[in-house]
Amino acid sequence: MANKESFRPVYHHTPAYGWMNDPNGMFYKDGVYHLYFQYNPYGSVWGNMHWGHSTSTDLAHWTFEGCAIVPDAWGAIFSGSCVVDHENTAGFGKDAIVAFYTSAKSTPWGDVQAESMAYSLDNGKTFTKYEGNPIVTSEEKDFRDPKVFWYAPGKHWCMILAVGQHMEIYSSANLKDWKKESEFGAMQGAHGGVWECPDLVELPVEGTREKKWVLICNLNPGGPFGGSAAQYFIGSFDGKKFVNEFPTQTKWMDWGKDNYATVTWNNAPEGRCVALGWMSNWQYANNVPTRQYRSANTIARDLTIYREGGELYLKSTPSKEIKKARGEKVSVPSFKVAGHHEVASLLKDNQGAYEIEMVIQNAGASKISFCLLNEKGEKVSMYYDVPRKQFVMDRSKSGKVDFSSDFPAVTVAPATADKEMTLRLFVDRSSVEAFGEDGKFVMTNLVFPSETYNKMCFESDKDGYTVKTLRVYPLK
Ligand code: FRU
Repeated sequence: MANKESFRPVYHHTPAYGWMNDPNGMFYKDGVYHLYFQYNPYGSVWGNMHWGHSTSTDLAHWTFEGCAIVPDAWGAIFSGSCVVDHENTAGFGKDAIVAFYTSAKSTPWGDVQAESMAYSLDNGKTFTKYEGNPIVTSEEKDFRDPKVFWYAPGKHWCMILAVGQHMEIYSSANLKDWKKESEFGAMQGAHGGVWECPDLVELPVEGTREKKWVLICNLNPGGPFGGSAAQYFIGSFDGKKFVNEFPTQTKWMDWGKDNYATVTWNNAPEGRCVALGWMSNWQYANNVPTRQYRSANTIARDLTIYREGGELYLKSTPSKEIKKARGEKVSVPSFKVAGHHEVASLLKDNQGAYEIEMVIQNAGASKISFCLLNEKGEKVSMYYDVPRKQFVMDRSKSGKVDFSSDFPAVTVAPATADKEMTLRLFVDRSSVEAFGEDGKFVMTNLVFPSETYNKMCFESDKDGYTVKTLRVYPLK
């Protein structure tokens, strides 16, 4: 019988106990990354939403700081964001941390959602609720997840809110009084479910001096493989209105089933844009086979924009800090796969938490298959379908999959490389995150193996391929 905690990730953020969903209120200050999260301290299913709080100096090792914001007469504390008020625009104090969240209340007449605020004068450890709450209200039933940020050219604050199946943008000079400026969303992108957890960030376009705005829109259900997923739009923003400049296709941030509620850090250092997702899916988040706690976050990802074939896309690269979690590297000498090949042991002492760096040179194969495998025969199968330009992951035989009929799944990402494929796989005790082509595609999937995957098998058709690089780093 596997240890009850055998699925607890080693290098992904999880709550010590209780339930977690969306990452909230992320800000960086004085060398510390603050992460708040939708938190139920009283059980490991959704309910009683608080903001839990954790901190990290390296995005890979986290310290739980307790509950930062707790429910009150206005209701539960749903998702939102934090800003650092450097200029004391709100009057709470210079460098006050100001949190924005949704007050969500069930009443006999239905659910009421409104935006509230709280401020902290001890760097985000404890918060005082603003006496004027709620600060933004509406008749809409789904009216939530405020993301607030400073718009430097206009010298004002912006708030983007998810409202039903559109976004609303508000502006403010003092963080307390908000004016609605615009709406975005009609006829744009995917509408298979409710829009949630928005973000709006300006990012550089790689290889140019240009910058573009990216509107992140989490959607549930209606993701490409069912349930929750994050889509995005790229365009321009003038402090009031966002315009999607590439409206022809729906763009997904991640091609797995388990990257949701992705938002970014305010004030990240070196002008970086660092994103974090909730590594689950509302289809089965309450039923995954952990008990003491439920849910983890993805690893942190740096976002940039790249151009391909006249279109702009988001690139998600593992944040560089993850390299600090690396232990001693194991390098497998280059080998050719013509038919079948097995790497019988990835690590001598495999704790179930490692990164694999791979470079594959295609010698004419149309299917490049490989899998992570354990002694029980449980496996995560992956392949490149070269003619179709796809990377595919199949977790249907990955271990425990029977807790939800939505869990066994095959997920597919666009993969353009056909001669040389580079891939980084981040494996933890209950997840696999694949970053292909330096982050041009990402695929995040949960897995629940009954023991660690410590083998890899490779298969090819036609003229085969060479695995030029295969490096394994244990992660701590
Ligand atoms: C997204 C979400 C948010 C909401 C929160 C409640 O996963 O539904 O829209 O604020 O979860 O926990």
